[in-house]
Amino acid sequence: MTSPIKRIALSTGGGDAPGLNAVIRAATLAARNRGWDVVGIRDGFNGLMNPDDYPRTGGIVELSRESVRGIVHTGGTILGTTNRGNPTKYPVQQDDGSWIEVDRSDELIAMFREREIDALVTIGGDGSLTIGHHLHERGLRVVGVPKTIDNDLEHTQSTFGFHSAVDFATECIDRLFSTATSHGRVIVVEVMGRYAGWIALHAGVASGAHAVLIPEIEFDLEPVAATISQREARGAKFSIVVVAEGACPKGGEVSVLGQAIGQAEKLGGIGQKVADGLSELTGKESRVVVLGHLIRGGSPVAYDRLLGLRFGAAAIRALEEGKDGVMVALNPPTVDYVPLSSVSKRQKLVPIDCDTMLTARDMGINFGDEMPHDFDEVWPPTV
Ligand code: F6P
Repeated sequence: MTSPIKRIALSTGGGDAPGLNAVIRAATLAARNRGWDVVGIRDGFNGLMNPDDYPRTGGIVELSRESVRGIVHTGGTILGTTNRGNPTKYPVQQDDGSWIEVDRSDELIAMFREREIDALVTIGGDGSLTIGHHLHERGLRVVGVPKTIDNDLEHTQSTFGFHSAVDFATECIDRLFSTATSHGRVIVVEVMGRYAGWIALHAGVASGAHAVLIPEIEFDLEPVAATISQREARGAKFSIVVVAEGACPKGGEVSVLGQAIGQAEKLGGIGQKVADGLSELTGKESRVVVLGHLIRGGSPVAYDRLLGLRFGAAAIRALEEGKDGVMVALNPPTVDYVPLSSVSKRQKLVPIDCDTMLTARDMGINFGDEMPHDFDEVWPPTV
């Protein structure tokens, strides 16, 4: 028998994603309607672990009906977030300047008890869900809510934030079409997504890009260049190439901008390399546009608002029903629950034989792994 819930905490961790505020609103209202108190932890778990860093506002904020009013359409998270300060591997600087990682999870759980918080709703990607699983194993009541624009979490058909990112990236690529057409240029568009190609694939296919490079398929530039030359021969002087930040050339390496202590690798830079390589192979002017954090910001689209609200409410139903150590998951037409242990440290990649990939290939979109149909008419180029 689990003890009745009187007070819960919400926490948002990792990179922000449009729809986070919808989760916070639905979870707060659903909990308050059950007579529970709700608090929000600032910046992941930092508000609880380092309260002295929040002298003015406090590291824990009361979430009332008023504080979650009018936030569904807003981007970001009203609680703040961080991708540093994982409590299970907390970075601590030594006297000699070196860093070590310390497990502060028992201390964190003690703080939950001290604040009389009976359960945690942790809203985040693989990092936050893995932390949630760890805290659950140490005795905290935890329900996870999957968030990421990358859509790379297992056991949920999609995560909120993904559709907003895809819609915005698609709009950006639409805009690049007109300028690429006017100048007869190649434009390479680099999009986020970490080691999964969901955003690149969906935005690339929806916008009608001519080549899409995703992490799931190591690429060669020759087939992409041949596709561009073939288009040129058919009178289309411009081409659009969408590259996922985690795409990797055959026999090469993923492009990494750097890695700070206690953080994941920062991916980026592959777009410029692809543009330079295509310029060299085709002789055409090639430009790069890195969409970067633009696709993570701004208002959630209606799909993500609704999914966020559904996930937030489902998390509270889970706690009421005594579920623990689970993640809410979209399993159309319903939202159900899967064990946190089955999602942590897993990655959902694009299946290379999925219908969207097949559609793209049927339309002649090149993935850098196969020469285009009838390529020998244009390749190798005659100088
Ligand atoms: O996971 C979401 C995401 O936006 C990835 O697509 C990207 O690689 C990463 O976060 C960027 O993180 P940061 O904002 O810390 O640079």
